[in-house]
Amino acid sequence: METSEKTELLLLGPEKPLITEGLAERFMIHRLLSSGTLKSGIASKIRAIAICGGHESVSSDFMLRFPKLKIIASFGVGYDHIDAVWAGQHGIIVTNTPDVLTEEVADTALGLLLCTVRELPQAERYLRAGQWIHGSYPLSRSSLRGRCVGIVGLGRIGSAIARRLEGFGVGISYHNRNKRNVPYTYHSTLLSLAHEADILIVVTPGGPETNSLVNYEILQALGPRGILINIGRGASVDERDLIKALKSGVIYSAGLDVFTEEPNVPQELLEMENVVLLPHVGSASVETRDAMSRLLVDNLLSWKDGKGPLTPVKETPVLTHSPSA
Ligand code: 8YV
Repeated sequence: METSEKTELLLLGPEKPLITEGLAERFMIHRLLSSGTLKSGIASKIRAIAICGGHESVSSDFMLRFPKLKIIASFGVGYDHIDAVWAGQHGIIVTNTPDVLTEEVADTALGLLLCTVRELPQAERYLRAGQWIHGSYPLSRSSLRGRCVGIVGLGRIGSAIARRLEGFGVGISYHNRNKRNVPYTYHSTLLSLAHEADILIVVTPGGPETNSLVNYEILQALGPRGILINIGRGASVDERDLIKALKSGVIYSAGLDVFTEEPNVPQELLEMENVVLLPHVGSASVETRDAMSRLLVDNLLSWKDGKGPLTPVKETPVLTHSPSA
């Protein structure tokens, strides 16, 4: 059973008061030194890791440095930076923060979609530059009217995006590993979805299975009036292929919230007028980020109480043992 002793925990990523305050009473919090190591004798005592954001890789080699590691609680729904399969095989639980960010990310996706299709950031820049006085902003060459939107990945966030799109009077199609019981057109391959859709919204979670899923062939199928929106993971789109396709008019434009090597964005994209670029703000409101922090803390507290984690990822075991077991 749970002991009153504090459990040794390693905190990684940017400091978040809600997380440190939420854990302080029950956990002894350690941070890596600037050398990337811990004070002597601490690593062998670490039972829990809290990743408070960022996407630094938590590989099997890293986990092996902590022989008593039992749980990794990660901030965010995506956990492609953690080797969860290896963790699961070695009895280490990984938790993420699903659900609490679903609606926020879906809102951002719709905002990015509208900004890209109707060139709203470009129009705003035009006004601020004092150009309106000289004439109206040019008509946007794209529109949602009569268009079909294809969703790549109809999970929780993809479904929340689809629900919003229902109100927009567009056609809705999707590609997923499995057909879902929903009133949208299913495509068993991404290529066939790209052929049908005018706009593709990528909502894939990242990881080896989805790396470079959207490549030149998919972009060619999307076609010259096609628009690509990526709100999932940068790695799901081959960035070089995307740049080539945008430059040569193989597709019309793109709206991106995620990039391959964040926070670095390729200069070619920065120089393009026909793309809308956001600095990975999908879930980035105070309310939602606070809810994510609370869920991370609650996962660790529930585990420490011997009740098991609240939101373990599918690759890892649900164990209801106490941290001292
Ligand atoms: C995270 C995200 O909040 O949840 C995710 O997977 O991509 C973001 O919304 C952010 O990556 C945490 O650093």
